[in-house]
Amino acid sequence: MSEFTSDFWGIYVGLITVVSIVACAVLLQSMSTRRVAKDEPVGTTGHTWDEDLTEWNNPLPRWWIWLFYITIAFSLVYLALYPGLGMYGGLLGWSSTGQFREEMERAEAKYGPIYARFLAQDIRTVAADPEARAIGQRLFLNFCSQCHGSDAGGAKGIPNLRDRDWLWGGEPEAIRTSIAEGRTGVMPPLGAAVGGDEGAKDVAHYVFSLSGRTHDTLRAFRGKPRFAAVCAACHGPDGKGNPQLGAPNLTDSIWLHGGSEAAVIEAVMKGRKNEMPAHKLFLDEAKIHLLTAYVYGLSADLERK
Ligand code: HEC
Ligand code: HEC
Repeated sequence: MSEFTSDFWGIYVGLITVVSIVACAVLLQSMSTRRVAKDEPVGTTGHTWDEDLTEWNNPLPRWWIWLFYITIAFSLVYLALYPGLGMYGGLLGWSSTGQFREEMERAEAKYGPIYARFLAQDIRTVAADPEARAIGQRLFLNFCSQCHGSDAGGAKGIPNLRDRDWLWGGEPEAIRTSIAEGRTGVMPPLGAAVGGDEGAKDVAHYVFSLSGRTHDTLRAFRGKPRFAAVCAACHGPDGKGNPQLGAPNLTDSIWLHGGSEAAVIEAVMKGRKNEMPAHKLFLDEAKIHLLTAYVYGLSADLERK
């Protein structure tokens, strides 16, 4: 309930609340006891606005005063029943965390069996089930869209999950591992290994030649042996990548961090480090199963088209 380690602030807050309510009641009482005779002339408060708009000093109508008394009675009843007076928890024992837990239990009772049914099925079967896909999409929007986008299209530094280009593999088991365990893609800075800025530029042009982009042939020629010596260990001798390390395919036109000359040189000079957080810490197996099927289905759709 309270984050405080001593009772002091709880009592302090509770006291201020009670004193304020009592003060309201006393003020109301004192303001409403003065009786005004029928023919007594009504004065003004002395306030004037817009030149001639004056404020009369009429007493409040009775019904109005009663409304105030009702609000005071309400606050007292409310504070007796619900938490509101410092540390005091209220007679009903209600708490927002308790309500949350109850709602979660109710949801679990309702959706648990549905999730369990899908968990027993193969990923490909689940991916083809429209009901499972709808649940998967909602989970994706809740837990993944802030990074991967609501259409799973990705962004700079965050992979597109709709295409068939995978850093870590697009088979159901690989996708499940990406989601549950998380992934860390690390490329160390390799400026020195390729011979500084010029060497990095040469290698970049060799990388461009791999996807058939326009490039400086002399630089690519010089970059080729450097690539074989330094980069091939992770990106493969043909540059097609390595899903064991999350090393991207450099022969396609899909770029995680941008495909400009400057971006590729930056990757070589400064390295890259990128992280997909592990989700098994807060998503249970059944949810991860549905999410895996949903993500798998996104690109499996492309295959069918
Ligand atoms: C904090 C941002 C973030 C969140 C949240 C996040 N991801 Fe990721 N995800 C990433 C990044 C960054 C990568 C790329 C990691 C790398 O470069 O190796 C990635 C990679 C992946 C991959 C591997 C892609 C490939 O090409 O192999 C999958 C699958 C994936 N995410 C699915 C999900 C799903 C499903 C969720 C929701 C449960 C999710 N992600 C939530 C940032 C995020
Ligand atoms: C130790 C393994 C390793 C070595 C060696 C390595 N890379 Fe990488 N490289 C990676 C990984 C892993 C990533 C993905 C980083 C991420 O997840 O963001 C990457 C990313 C890249 C990217 C960004 C790709 C994109 O789609 O945006 C480029 C370009 C690149 N590497 C080029 C090179 C070149 C050129 C060399 C040789 C000078 C090289 N790499 C050496 C592991 C390596």
